[in-house]
Amino acid sequence: MVAVAENGVIGRDNALPWRLKTDLQRFRRLTLGRPMIMGRRNFVSIGRALPGRETIVLTRDPAFAAEGVHVAHDWKEAVRLGADLAAHLEVNEVAVVGGAEIYRLALACAHSLHLTRVHARPDGDIFFPDYDASAFHETWREAHPAGPDDAHPFTFIDLERVAIRP
Ligand SMILES: NC(=O)c1ccc[n+]([C@@H]2O[C@H](COP(=O)([O-])OP(=O)(O)OC[C@H]3O[C@@H](n4cnc5c(N)ncnc54)[C@H](OP(=O)(O)O)[C@@H]3O)[C@@H](O)[C@H]2O)c1
Repeated sequence: MVAVAENGVIGRDNALPWRLKTDLQRFRRLTLGRPMIMGRRNFVSIGRALPGRETIVLTRDPAFAAEGVHVAHDWKEAVRLGADLAAHLEVNEVAVVGGAEIYRLALACAHSLHLTRVHARPDGDIFFPDYDASAFHETWREAHPAGPDDAHPFTFIDLERVAIRP
C-alpha cells in the first residue's frame, strides 16, 4: 500500500510530503484488522502503534522494542510473523506499508498493490522503488479531486499480480 507522487516521491525528512486525509482514511479502511509490516524509519515517523492493527516493525537493531508492536529482524521473519498473525486474525492478507526499503523487499512477492497516485511533483528524498510493472495488471481505479483536507488531487489504483501460467 503506497501513495506515490508523479515524480516517484513518497517521503521527505522522514515524513509524508503532503496531507491527504482521504488517502489516510483509505489506508485505515484497508489495514484495519490486518497485520502490517513496516520499516523502522516509517514506524518512527508514525510515532506509535496504530490501533486495530498488528504492527510488525522490521529492524536490524537487536535491541529495538516499542510498545504494542511485534519486531522482526529480517524479511522472512517478518513475512512468517505476518502469516501467523493473519491466521490468528482470520484474514488472508498482510499489508506492507513502507517505507522505500521495505517496499523494495515486498515488490518481488506482493500479490496486489494498492496505489494512490498523487497528482503533484513535491520535493522529496525517498522514492518508490522501480519494479516490474508488467508483472501486475490494473483491476480498478478511481480519480478524486482534492477534498477540503487534501493537498492534491489523486487517483486510487488497484493492481494484481498477473497469474503465472505453468
Ligand atoms: N507515501 C507513502 O505511502 C509512504 C508510506 C510509508 C512511508 N513513507 C515515507 O517513507 C520514508 C521512510 O522510508 P525509508 O525507506 O527511509 O525507511 P523504511 O523502509 O521505513 O525503514 C528502513 C529501516 O528498516 C529496517 N530494514 C530495512 N531492510 C531491512 C532488512 N532486510 N532486515 C531488517 N531490517 C531492515 C532498517 O531499520 P534499522 O535502521 O533500525 O536497522 C532500516 O533503516 C518516510 O519519509 C515515510 O514518511 C511513505
